[in-house]
Amino acid sequence: MTIPSSVKHAKAKAWVDKMAALLEPDQIHWCDGSREEYDAMCQTLVEAGTFIPLDPEKRPNSFLARSDPSDVARVEDRTFICSQNKSDAGPTNNWMDPVRMKGILRDVARGAMKGRTLYVIPFSMGPLGSDIAQIGIELTDSPYVVVNMKIMTRMGEAVWDVLGEDGRFVPCVHTVGAPLEPGQEDVPWPCNPETKYIVHFPEERSIWSYGSGYGGNALLGKKCLALRIASTMARDEGWLAEHMLIMGVQEPDGEKSYVAAAFPSACGKTNFAMIVPPRAYREKGWKVTTVGDDIAWIKPGEDGRLYAINPEAGYFGVAPGTSRASNPSAMDTIRENCIFTNVALTDDGDVWWEGMDGDPPAHAIDWRGNDWTPASDTPAAHPNARFTAPAAQNPVADEAWEDPNGVPIRAFIFGGRRSDTIPLVFQAFNWVYGVYAAATMGSETTAAAFGKQGVVRRDPFAMLPFAGYHMGSYFNHWLSLGRKIPNPPRIFGVNWFRRDKDGKFVWPGFSENMRILEWILKRSKGGRGSGVESPIGWMPTYRDIDWEGLEHFTREDFHAAMAIDKPDWDKELLEADALFIRLYDRIPKEMIAIRTLLLSGLWRSPEHWELTGDPT
Ligand code: OXD
Ligand code: MN
Repeated sequence: MTIPSSVKHAKAKAWVDKMAALLEPDQIHWCDGSREEYDAMCQTLVEAGTFIPLDPEKRPNSFLARSDPSDVARVEDRTFICSQNKSDAGPTNNWMDPVRMKGILRDVARGAMKGRTLYVIPFSMGPLGSDIAQIGIELTDSPYVVVNMKIMTRMGEAVWDVLGEDGRFVPCVHTVGAPLEPGQEDVPWPCNPETKYIVHFPEERSIWSYGSGYGGNALLGKKCLALRIASTMARDEGWLAEHMLIMGVQEPDGEKSYVAAAFPSACGKTNFAMIVPPRAYREKGWKVTTVGDDIAWIKPGEDGRLYAINPEAGYFGVAPGTSRASNPSAMDTIRENCIFTNVALTDDGDVWWEGMDGDPPAHAIDWRGNDWTPASDTPAAHPNARFTAPAAQNPVADEAWEDPNGVPIRAFIFGGRRSDTIPLVFQAFNWVYGVYAAATMGSETTAAAFGKQGVVRRDPFAMLPFAGYHMGSYFNHWLSLGRKIPNPPRIFGVNWFRRDKDGKFVWPGFSENMRILEWILKRSKGGRGSGVESPIGWMPTYRDIDWEGLEHFTREDFHAAMAIDKPDWDKELLEADALFIRLYDRIPKEMIAIRTLLLSGLWRSPEHWELTGDPT
C-alpha cells in the first residue's frame, strides 16, 4: 500500500520504514480510521475465526473474540520501565538497562511479522487538537488491536493533519510475536505463549510490546501511553496523568460539579462512573453523568483550577458482574457496535457472563469454546472478560465529555476494597494529608486478578502498575502541584466494601454511594458544619447524610461502617511504613510528618472510636 498523501511527517515515515525492515511484514496497511475500514477488518476477523458475529437483532454489529487461554490479562511481571537509571523507575517497577532491553527487543522482533500485515494506526489520546491531548502511532500485526483502537481512541486520517510535518508523537510498536512460515495456517488468537515484553522507554517516550494480543498489553494507547508514558510527561510538564474516572454531578438547583476518583482494578470503578442515583435523589432532580471511566489527564487552568479530560473514546470494561441491577447505563452502552472478549456465547447468538441479570442460560459455549451449563464447575466467562464499547453510546455521557478544555475538578476520591480498617468515608484534613491517604491506600486482591484472595496489596493512588517512574517522586509531584494552585480540590477516602463480624458487607453500595457523594460535594464546596473531626480526617455524622428511601440501614449500621479500630490502624500504619521503607530514597518528608501526626491522633483516641456527640 502506498503512503497516504495526508502523511507529511518525514520522521514518522522513516520510523515506519525502519520498523518494517526489522519486523518483515508481508505488507503495510496505513489505517484511515473510516467506518468502511472498520467493517472490512471485522469481516476479515470473522473469516480468520477470531471474531464470531453475534445475532444482528440482539446485539447489532457486535462480535465475540476468544483469546488464547494463556493470554487473558495484563502481565505485570513482564511489564518494564526502562529508564536510563534504575533508581528513576523505583522499586515498584521492573527495570532493565534500556540498551540491553533494546537488544533483546530487536532480537525477538526480527522477522516477527513474517506472513502478516503491519497496520499503521495514527491515534489521538484526547479530543483531536486539544492542548491536553497526545498523539501516538501504533504499529501492530493484530487486526483485533486495530478495531479495538478504533473504539478506544480517536484514530485515523485526521491525526496526520494534527501532527503536520513535525508534531510530537509517541511511537508504539506491537507484535503478537507469532510469525507465519509460508503456507502455515494461522490460529484465531495468535500470541507468543512463552515470551512477552511490555516495555516503556520513559526518556525517549516510546513503547514496545511483544507477545500478547490482550487489552492493556496490546492496546497501547491505554495503560502504556495514557498512564505510564503520560505520567512521566506530566511530571516533567506540571500536570497529572491518573488512573481515575471523572464524573459530573448535577444538583437539584442545576449546579454542576465534577469529581475524579481513583480505585484499583476490580473495585467497581465503571459502576461508580455511571452511578444511577437512588429514586429519592432522582425525584429531587439529582443527575450523574460520565466523563470517563478509567483514565484522567488533569492540567492546571489559568483560573487556578484543575481541568480534566478523559483521553479515551471508549470503555474497555470488565464484563462479569455488569448487569441491569449493577449498572443499567453500561448495559445500554453495550447494546450494539461492541467487541466482547472472553465472555460466553448463548445458543441464540448473544453474550452472557456471571452476574448478568436473570437466570443463567441452560446451555452456552464458554470462553474457551467448550459446552457449558450451570452445573459446570468453571465459569462461563473468564473473570477478566471485557467489552469494548464506544463511550458515545453511554446514555449518561456528560455533555462536556469531549470538551477539549476539560472539566474543572472539585474533589478527588480514593478508595480500595477493604473488609476492615477504612471507614465508609472521610475527608483528608488538607492536601498533604490527602496525598498521604492516597499514597498509602490498599486493596484486597480478588482471586481473579492476582492469585491469593483477601490479601491487602498497597496500591498508591491506584497507580502501582501504571506509574512510569519512582513512586516516591510521584508523591512529591502531587505535593508540589498542590502547592502551586491556590485552592486545590478537596481529597476524600471511601470504602464501599467494609464487612461485619459475619463477613457481610455493611454498606449496600451501588446507587446508595450517591448519598456519600452528596456529602463529599457539600464538603468540597466548603460546607462547614456538616462533619466532625475524627483521628484520621473529617467525617459526616448520621445527621449529615440524607437517608430518604434507604429503609434498612440504621444509625448503628452507619456507626459500624465509620468506626476506627485502633488495632487495625496500628497494622495500617506499619504497612504504610513498610511501603515508605521500600520507597525510602525518594519519599517526601511530608509523608513521614503526616504519619507521625496521624499516629499521635490515633494514640490519644479510644481503642474503638465511634462517632459521638451525634444527637437524634
Ligand atoms: C483496567 C485495569 O483494565 O485497571 O482498567 O486493570
Ligand atoms: Mn483501569
